[in-house]
Parts: sequence; C-alpha cells; structure tokens
Amino acid sequence: MSSMELCRASLSVAPSFLLPITRRTHHQKTNFERNRAGVAAVVVLCAASSTGANPASKDNRMVISVTGATGFVGQRLVQKLSADGHTVHVLTRSRRNAQLVFPVEKFPQMIVAEEGEWKNSIQGSNAVVNLAGMPISTRWSSEIKKDIKQSRIRVTSKVVDLINNTQLDLRPSVLVSATAVGYYGTSETQVFDETSPSGNDYLSEVCREWEGKALEVDKDVRLALIRIGVVLGKGGGALAKMIPLFMMFAGGPVGSGQQWFSWIHIDDLVNLIYEAIMNPSYKGIINGTAPNPVRLSELCEQLGNVLGRPSWLPVPDFALKALLGEGATIVLEGQRVLPVKAKKLGFSFKYPYVRDALKAIVSEKVYS
Ligand SMILES: NC(=O)c1ccc[n+]([C@@H]2O[C@H](COP(=O)([O-])OP(=O)(O)OC[C@H]3O[C@@H](n4cnc5c(N)ncnc54)[C@H](OP(=O)(O)O)[C@@H]3O)[C@@H](O)[C@H]2O)c1
Repeated sequence: MSSMELCRASLSVAPSFLLPITRRTHHQKTNFERNRAGVAAVVVLCAASSTGANPASKDNRMVISVTGATGFVGQRLVQKLSADGHTVHVLTRSRRNAQLVFPVEKFPQMIVAEEGEWKNSIQGSNAVVNLAGMPISTRWSSEIKKDIKQSRIRVTSKVVDLINNTQLDLRPSVLVSATAVGYYGTSETQVFDETSPSGNDYLSEVCREWEGKALEVDKDVRLALIRIGVVLGKGGGALAKMIPLFMMFAGGPVGSGQQWFSWIHIDDLVNLIYEAIMNPSYKGIINGTAPNPVRLSELCEQLGNVLGRPSWLPVPDFALKALLGEGATIVLEGQRVLPVKAKKLGFSFKYPYVRDALKAIVSEKVYS
C-alpha cells in the first residue's frame, strides 16, 4: 500500500483528537464529522500514521469521565489516558479509595468525583467511559445476583440520565459502555459475533438489561457498547484467581476442558476502549475479545508452558466452585466469541494469540 493510500485508508478511521479544533479548546467535541473538512488534519493524520505516534497534542487533549476507573480495567485505561495528556475524572463511590488507587503525586491532573459531583464532571467532559459494576466472580446468593445486576443498571442509568439532562453544547459526544460476552449465553459448538442473539441464562439477562440502559442515551451521543471477554492481565481479573489454583493442582483444564474461553489481553482492551473514545467509526456493539478464542484445555496447556508447570491433572470443578461459587460458570461454561466488528474497523490486536498474551503477563511477575 502506498503512503497516499495509507493516508486515505487511515482517514476513514481518524481519531478525532488528531483533527483541528474548530470550537472550544478546553471542551472540544470528539465529533469527527464536525471537523471532516479540515485539510490540516489530513497532514497531521498522515504524519501520525506513519510514525505510529499516539499522544494527544496540547490542543487536542480531552476531558474524559470514567466510572469503575478504580477497577482492574479502569486503572490501566486511566494510566494510558493520563500518560497521553488527557484529563481524567474518576467517577467513584469513594474518594478515599480512589485517592489511594491514584495518588495525587502520580496523577496530578486527575479529578476525583463522588456520586454527588458526577453531574459537574460529566458536563465538563468530551467523553464518558462506563465500567462500573460489582464483581461477578464471587459466590452467587440470590442477594448477590440481584446486586450484580442492580449495580450495573443503577450506575449506567445515572450516567445516561446525567448525559441526557446536560444541555446540548456541553454534552459529551461519546459514551463507551462496558457489557460482557455473557450476553450470548454459553455453548461448546456455536460461534458468536455481534449479530448473534442473546442467550437465556442469568448473565445474558444481566447484559441485556445493562445494554438496554446504555441504549437510552440520546441519539446525538455516539454509543459504543463493548462486549468484553475474560480479561487477562497482571494482578487482577480471572487469571489472578486461576493461577494459584492452577499451581495447587499442577495445572490442567477445569471440568471437561472443552468449554470455550473468549479472552482478551488487558492492553488490547484498553486500546479498543481508547479507540472507541477517539474514533467516530466505533459505534454500536463491538466484541472486546481476541481473534483467537481457545478451549479451556488449550488455555491451561499454554499457561502450564509459560509457568513451566506440566498441565496434566484436570482441576476439579469443585475446587473452582469452592473458590468462585456459582460465579465459576464464567470459567466452567464458556462461549466462542469473535471480534468481527473490531476487525472490520481495522483494529490491530497486539496479542491475537493466548500464548503470547500469557507470556507477556507472566513475565510481568505479579500474579495477584
Ligand atoms: N474483567 C473481566 O474479565 C471482565 C469481563 C467482562 C466484562 N467485564 C466488565 O468490565 C467492567 C470493568 O471490569 P473490571 O474487571 O475492571 O471490574 P472491577 O475491577 O471489578 O471494577 C469495577 C469498578 O466498579 C465499581 N463498583 C464495584 N462494585 C460496585 C457496586 N456495587 N456498585 C457500583 N459500582 C461498583 C468500583 O469502582 P468504585 O469503587 O470506584 O466506585 C470498581 O472499581 C465491569 O463492568 C465488568 O463487568 C469485565
């Protein structure tokens, strides 16, 4: 592909932070459409495409509000946004906890907002990312199941109401909202993409209602719903729980090992969310999973290889259930989900294969 073609191809997915600001610098909109005619933008974009440079220039810094910012995924996202010069508002339930997670010396630009202050933060933001939700990898009593669902619906409703009630010229132009591959239900044989119907179990019901709330955002706000797979990363998520168990049982698949495991490396997920904030082509449902899901037996074999432990004894279901209760279904029953939309949008996965993802994570040396 010639550099001219590269520029043209890239233009269709241009991150709006690379475009000239035609209005408000401190509160610029991300709407690429609004700035499409900018010739200077093409020049900047071509330079950026050829160098792969990413950080926002001074004039293109954005203000981004993030719920669930203190969590496993949120922390990594906030680190990247801050490193690139954007101002992050951490929308949290607890200022105290957020300040422990993001010490002011390391994040001097960050603003922490407790629920009563979310309105002001959202009004001053170009984009909102909604990641909040009570963890699902726990024992599921009927009370906890209710809380798992309600926590997501309550925060998403609140965010959507605050956006919808903000006057048009102060409204964030994009909402990136988390959901999960649990939407599709579970299967050992089917392949799911963004067009597949929802399943009929508890998690698919949670995801449908969660997405339904996000879909209530006004139509002039671009909405990207990221159906996230099992996030693999250092010091948290499923892997932090699986590795000690794996070591204890000398590794091996859980249950039959035939169940599908649709995973994504945390860096790829963060990059996907980042791209969804910046790039107006990212809208609607986007599966946040790596292009090569694996069966659990393969995951365990690869994990055994990178940890230097044999993977020959199956981890008994009961051990995982003892650890996770009914929440173990996310590992004991899976689904094969493909990132068809992300691929179409030209998203480039740094870790398409689980072996490379696990190698990178394990070499970071922190497991929990
Ligand atoms: N990690 C995965 O493998 C995975 C897979 C699929 C989908 N997802 C979804 O992606 C999102 C981010 O995942 P994550 O792993 O980063 O989550 P996480 O580490 O569990 O963090 C989620 C954040 O949500 C907030 N939160 C926790 N309990 C809450 C409650 N009862 N009510 C309201 N807010 C609550 C907390 O923020 P504050 O304390 O600051 O308010 C917390 O830091 C979640 O919605 C999750 O369901 C994750």
